[in-house]
Parts: sequence; structure tokens; C-alpha cells
Amino acid sequence: MVKKKIKFGIIGAGLMGREFASACARWCHLTEMKAKPELVAVCDKNPGLYSWYEDNFPSVKQITDDYHELLANPEVEAVYCAVPHNLHEQFYCDIIKAGKHLLGEKPFGIDKKANDAISKCIKEHPEVFVRCSSEFPFHPPMQRLGKMIEDKFFGQIIEVNSGFLHSSDLNQNKVINWKRMIDFNGEYGCLGDLGMHPCHMPFKAGWYPKNVRAILSNIVKERPDGKGNMVPCETWDNGTMFCETEDPDTGEMFPMTIKTQRIAPGETDTWYFEVKGMKGCGRWNSKKPRTLEILEYNGGDQAWQQIDMGAQVAFPGITGGIFEIGFSDTIQQMWAAFIYELTEGKPKSKFASCVTPEETALSHRLFSAALKSQENHSTVDIDKLP
Ligand SMILES: NC(=O)c1ccc[n+]([C@@H]2O[C@H](COP(=O)([O-])OP(=O)(O)OC[C@H]3O[C@@H](n4cnc5c(N)ncnc54)[C@H](O)[C@@H]3O)[C@@H](O)[C@H]2O)c1
Repeated sequence: MVKKKIKFGIIGAGLMGREFASACARWCHLTEMKAKPELVAVCDKNPGLYSWYEDNFPSVKQITDDYHELLANPEVEAVYCAVPHNLHEQFYCDIIKAGKHLLGEKPFGIDKKANDAISKCIKEHPEVFVRCSSEFPFHPPMQRLGKMIEDKFFGQIIEVNSGFLHSSDLNQNKVINWKRMIDFNGEYGCLGDLGMHPCHMPFKAGWYPKNVRAILSNIVKERPDGKGNMVPCETWDNGTMFCETEDPDTGEMFPMTIKTQRIAPGETDTWYFEVKGMKGCGRWNSKKPRTLEILEYNGGDQAWQQIDMGAQVAFPGITGGIFEIGFSDTIQQMWAAFIYELTEGKPKSKFASCVTPEETALSHRLFSAALKSQENHSTVDIDKLP
């Protein structure tokens, strides 16, 4: 089968830029995709990154440090943009205005004002397909939990807990980088950097917080700058958002916690999601990547069962169904969702889809309310935000 090619440029060729390039390079992994991305252009300010792309991607014909040049390239149909948060508004709007489809990175604007500007630009250019990155739902147990939400397995929701935890900042000697600086990462701190991921499943499920009480902590207040000095580290390290959320099926309210932590001892890179309902419960934690836990209640025993899941992914590939998948696979699955929706005009399924611009707007309302809540030590109504 000859696959339709979509020619891509990358703006921001660092950690995540390379993950996308790698996913493109092994697109043959996916057996049912009718379209494939082809990397033709790369832009980054850091020339030290160029040789990896030159050595591995003969399809790349343009490498530049000026993203305007990449946007002027008529060959480029779509862009993956993975740059620091302070650049999202300008870069995303310029990409959209240039008529290129966009997968942008979270938080999709450094703050709510930037996100509003991006949303306005998207509305003015309906011909351009725009989505935001978050690979969390593409782990097979999460896909299964998504199907269970669609099938109303849980009954009336009792509570939901979703989180994303890192431990590396426990090391106080870790050199500061842009993700720990307000000018580049934003006032949201860990909420902006990590928060879209744990919000993704609840938002897709239609579980929209009505209000939030947030507790945010700046635990490590200065860090080495790598040049022998200590410099201020002002971003929030950890944040927990306690949200009152409406269950759209019953109209009843339930508590939902969304936790993002950069200093979570022992948690290298832990994603978790848990739904407790009157008919059933389900949970997954990336510490045990294959294991989905389910409790089904029919009036008898309340017993958790463990299901070992293999590569039961949304977009099938060559990997045998019993084998494990990892971070790079979920990134490729997310890209498959983007390419599928771009070419088919609709997502493959509710939970096999990327974050929409509307969902990013909702996350910015939540994070802005969380900042206010922390400032005033109060519960903030999200609907009452300007
Ligand atoms: N989806 C995920 O799991 C995930 C993981 C990490 C980061 N991210 C997001 O990806 C984005 C980038 O993060 P990263 O970890 O790849 O960071 P990174 O620092 O590794 O890469 C960012 C790149 O942008 C480049 N850059 C900076 N200014 C530029 C400019 N003016 N023109 C062109 N290039 C420029 C830098 O040189 C750098 O290579 C952020 O929005 C971050 O939140 C997402």
C-alpha cells in the first residue's frame, strides 16, 4: 500500500524534537496507517543538534536557526513545535498563519493570555489542523480505561485521582534549566510543565472541574547555574489541585485530585490514573506499565483483579500482542492519532486522539484558578474566572 506522505518540519529539535523524528523514522512499525510523516526540515537555535538529524534523516533538506525560513518553505505542510513555553504564543501563531498544520507542545502558551491568543488565531484559520501533545492516554491500560469510561463501567463516580510525578529535583545540586525559570517556563511552574498530562484523560471523559483548591510548594529555592554560582529557583516544584467535578452522566459532584510533582522521592517518571465508581473501579500506574487493576462490584466480594496487558495499542503495529510497550511507543501512538485525525477528518476513537485546543484552554483556566487559590488560600470557582 502506498502511503500518503505528510511533509513535516520540526521547530525546537531538542529532547522532544528528537522523539518525534525517531517516531517518523520507524513509521513502518505501524501496520494500518494510510498516511506517514516525512521529516523535511529542522529548525533550532543550537547547531550542536544538527548532526544527529543530518546523519539519520536523508529526507531533511533544510536545517536552519530561523523558524521564519522553515515556515517560508512551501514543501513543509505540517510542523511539530517543541520550544520553551515563553515562545509558544509567537511561534504557534506564526505557524498557523503560515497555513501549516501544527502539533504544539503543552502547556500551549506560557499563561492564559498566551493560550487565549493562540485560540483566537486557530479560530481565524479553520483550514489548519491544530492539536497539543500528551501521550499519557496511549499506554494500553489507559486505552482500556478510556473504553471502560465510554462503556459506563464505573457507574456513579466516587472519585478520580490523576498525577504525574518526577523525582530528579530532589537532588539540590541539579543545575537549573529553563523549565525551572519563570521567564521561560511561566508562573504555573510544575502545573504548566506537567499538568496537561494528568488533565488529559479527565477532560476527554468530560470531567471538567467546577472549582479548585490548590496547594503549591516551592521547596528548593535556589540551584547551581553550572558556572559556580547559586541562582534563584522560583518555580513551583510541586502542586496538588483538589477539584470539585461534575459527573456528566449523573449530574452529581465528585472530588478529583490532579497532582504534579517535580520532587516526588522515588518516582523517576510516574504517571497514574485512578477512577473509583459505585459499580466498578480501575487504576493504572506506570511503575507497573503492563498492569491494569480493576474492581467490579455486583453486590458480592470487592476484589481487585490484575490484568497483564501487552501491546494492545490504539494503532496496531508489528509488535506481538503480549509484549510490553514504552515511552517512545506512546509518543508514536500519539503521532499516529494526529496523522489519523488530520487525514481522516475525525479521531479514531474518543481516547485515541490528541489534546484539542479547547482542552488546552480548559487546562489554562484550571491552572490560573490554582494560582489564585494558592495566593488567597481559598477555593476558586473556575467558571467565574474572567
Ligand atoms: N509530551 C511530553 O512528554 C514532553 C516532554 C518534555 C517536554 N515537553 C514539552 O516540549 C517542549 C520542549 O521541551 P523539551 O524538553 O524538548 O526542551 P529542550 O530544551 O530539550 O528543547 C527545546 C529546543 O528549543 C530550541 N529553541 C529555543 N529557542 C529557539 C528559537 N528561538 N528557535 C528555534 N529553536 C529554539 C532549543 O535550542 C532546544 O533545542 C516544551 O513545551 C515542553 O513542555 C513535552
